[in-house]
Amino acid sequence: ERVSLWGGRFAGGPDRALAALSKSTHFDWRLAPHDIAGSRAHAKVLYAAHLLSEEELSGMLAGLDRLEADVRSGAFAPDEDDEDVHTALERGLIERVGPELGGRLRAGRSRNDQVATLFRMYLREHARVLASLVSDVVEALVQQADRHLGVAMPGRTHLQHAQPVLLSHHLLAHAWTLLRDVDRLRDWDVRSDASPYGSGALAGSSLGLDPEAVAADLGFSRAVENSIDGTASRDFVAEFAFVCAMTAVDISRIAEEVVLWATKEFSFVTLDDAYSTGSSIMPQKKNPDVAELARGKAGRLVGDLAGLLTTLKALPLAYNRDLQEDKEPVFDAVDTLELLLPAFSGMVATLSFNTDRLESLAPQGFALATDIAEWLVRQHVPFRVAHEVAGACVRLCEERGVELWDLTDADFAAVSEHLGPDVRSVLSVQGSLASRDAVGGTAPVRVREQLAAARERLAAA
Ligand code: ARG
Repeated sequence: ERVSLWGGRFAGGPDRALAALSKSTHFDWRLAPHDIAGSRAHAKVLYAAHLLSEEELSGMLAGLDRLEADVRSGAFAPDEDDEDVHTALERGLIERVGPELGGRLRAGRSRNDQVATLFRMYLREHARVLASLVSDVVEALVQQADRHLGVAMPGRTHLQHAQPVLLSHHLLAHAWTLLRDVDRLRDWDVRSDASPYGSGALAGSSLGLDPEAVAADLGFSRAVENSIDGTASRDFVAEFAFVCAMTAVDISRIAEEVVLWATKEFSFVTLDDAYSTGSSIMPQKKNPDVAELARGKAGRLVGDLAGLLTTLKALPLAYNRDLQEDKEPVFDAVDTLELLLPAFSGMVATLSFNTDRLESLAPQGFALATDIAEWLVRQHVPFRVAHEVAGACVRLCEERGVELWDLTDADFAAVSEHLGPDVRSVLSVQGSLASRDAVGGTAPVRVREQLAAARERLAAA
């Protein structure tokens, strides 16, 4: 006969509607391997505290091994009456080692400290996977930057032509952003590297069990300092969800550029066939679906974070059942990113840049006007005046429908006495780029250094 984990004080079983509401196996079953690892570690501290004999310990561990194999093969799965992953696995253990032995494992632990620990284990594992998938996108950006060193493009602010920059500089800007997301995952891991196992329901255990031993067994470097905090806090989940959302938002900014760049009007890039899609009606279409899905899924990840924070807001200590709602949003965030990132890095790696077009558009839209102003500043003209003078050059060009470099020496002299013929030296893309040579600037010499630094960071990531 089936006994629930908590039926003792109840005369009857739960109503079917409650049981249906309460159930979480359809999403928490993915924690089963971690639950079993936790059970192994817990069995060992029960033995160390003389609450299991040596024989009982080996029986328990053998039962857990069989259970794990059956979970892996699918021979054991949660059934209708199992409330959550912990309930199902206790049933599975009891089916394998009998109620006498199987019924001893639960001593000194609660699903509250279990789930808090297993969730950390799961997220730590996926933090590593995600860090590596984000690094793959960085790698693709770095390779493209390397391949196109020296190619100029129109740098934009407000989406308007601003100043010429190197394509590599632009691509590396995205790389540095994503490297910080990788850093965030690592920082998060350091903070989350503490095991709540042994916190019990909220107050700790009276059975002489060693939380540090369990922590070490489960790959944590320490146990939590406070059992209430251990069972009730979910900032580790929210922070993880934030890093996922931030990463998706950062990816969406690249995605939006790819969508624009692939239009007829921009024609900056051509997407590889393997990373573009067609239309069921318009035979000519080649659509940037990978980038669009990336852009779209960012909204979903922001929603996951917002939903989670809303669940956590104003929850009193310690454990509340609301906390069961912490898993689905973050599982969704993990699944979504693990699906998206490989496609995204493939798309970036195979982008083909129309470098002639990028180069020819780089100086358009009077993008060298700042160079005139800064040239004047180097002649000791106050910037306020220099800005006015360069602006007047632009106005003159607009009136005549020409570019800055089409102005004659006489035109320049007529605009301002300060504008000698030498100003022409900065009216080229190469001159403009080369002049921005301070640390972090777009000068080729700096971008080459930057590329090497990004590679180094990537290797260390
Ligand atoms: N399934 C729950 C969760 O995910 C853990 C169970 C705790 N239940 C309880 N009644 N204390 O948070």
